[in-house]
Amino acid sequence: MNTSVSASWVEKAWQQGASRTIQNAKRIKDTFPHTSVQGMYDSNDPEWWTAGFWPGLLWLVHRDAPESEAAAELRRIADSCERQLEDCLRDPDSVDHDLGFIWLLSGIASYRQMGSEEGRRRGMLAANLLAARFHVRGEFIRAWNFSSSTMDTRGVAIIDSMMNLPLLYWASEQSGDPRFRWLAEAHADTVAREFVRADGSICHVVEFDPYTGQKLREHGGQGHAPGSAWARGTAWALHGFALSFRYTGEARYLETAERAADFFLAMLGEDIVPVWDFRAPTEHRAAWDSSAAAIAASGLLELAKLSPRGQIYAAAGERIVRGLYEHFSAGKSAAEEGLIMKGTVHYPEGRGINVPIIYGDYFYMEALAKLRGSEGLF
Ligand code: GLY
Repeated sequence: MNTSVSASWVEKAWQQGASRTIQNAKRIKDTFPHTSVQGMYDSNDPEWWTAGFWPGLLWLVHRDAPESEAAAELRRIADSCERQLEDCLRDPDSVDHDLGFIWLLSGIASYRQMGSEEGRRRGMLAANLLAARFHVRGEFIRAWNFSSSTMDTRGVAIIDSMMNLPLLYWASEQSGDPRFRWLAEAHADTVAREFVRADGSICHVVEFDPYTGQKLREHGGQGHAPGSAWARGTAWALHGFALSFRYTGEARYLETAERAADFFLAMLGEDIVPVWDFRAPTEHRAAWDSSAAAIAASGLLELAKLSPRGQIYAAAGERIVRGLYEHFSAGKSAAEEGLIMKGTVHYPEGRGINVPIIYGDYFYMEALAKLRGSEGLF
């Protein structure tokens, strides 16, 4: 543990989150929680993009004491989740660009911690499927499969994609085949150019022409509107570009991560948890997003190790995590399975507003792990 940063509150917060996770595992088992409803996590489909966060949380806690009896049970559950996730890899309609979120936190975590060759094989398969989504003319990774009446998704990319790129960087490192990294860099360059605005704000969804690859328009997506600043999207950008810099050493990604981080921190001000969209109009500002705070905090702690202005990002990341622990955590309450309260899934569609969300919990624990001197799983 890094004693220069770690304080007693970090240890208490980590232990509280780890105990709650071990307790939750007895009921949740090898299902796929997404949001906590009246204190109890629901169970979602393994195809959904959030399916990696539960095994990821288990692997984070497992890594802390891998020899313990509790860890053996967490490992068994994570392995069972992973086998279910492999079924999705057999159906092209069951996978989208979120293969990185899913496989870095399941099979690849198992490979890294336990040397699992099955985890490595599945991770490489997932990387190949993600690479196959690359749009050669537009130089972006296609996000979704479905189309809707408002959007032709054949040419759609979204900011969340930045968190999936470490799967491709990892695949190049593993295989010695540089193509995966080149695709990831080409996508990151397109996102930096087309999603990150001059003031450092970020749009969620960009639609490109599926034939020419030219940018057509922005969509508000999970944000309020085109031109708004969805808080979680800003957090994905700051964290994702920091990871691209860590894997590639390319300074342009660090610069982009810092722009997103500076925008996030300027909009957050003295608060701990942002409103779901920094530019939401007054009548829509009663929904917060603790998941954005946790994703940003973990990303800021990543930037702390990479940036010449690392001390500023370290202090900001630590302040947010401490605030989440002191003001937003469910504490020792037996009546709540979620670790942090007040996340928002999709405000425009009225889904999951001011509730605990599994990825909020994951990134909260990942940030605490970083404060204890450990690494994240991305
Ligand atoms: N669309 C992924 C997210 O809700 O962040």
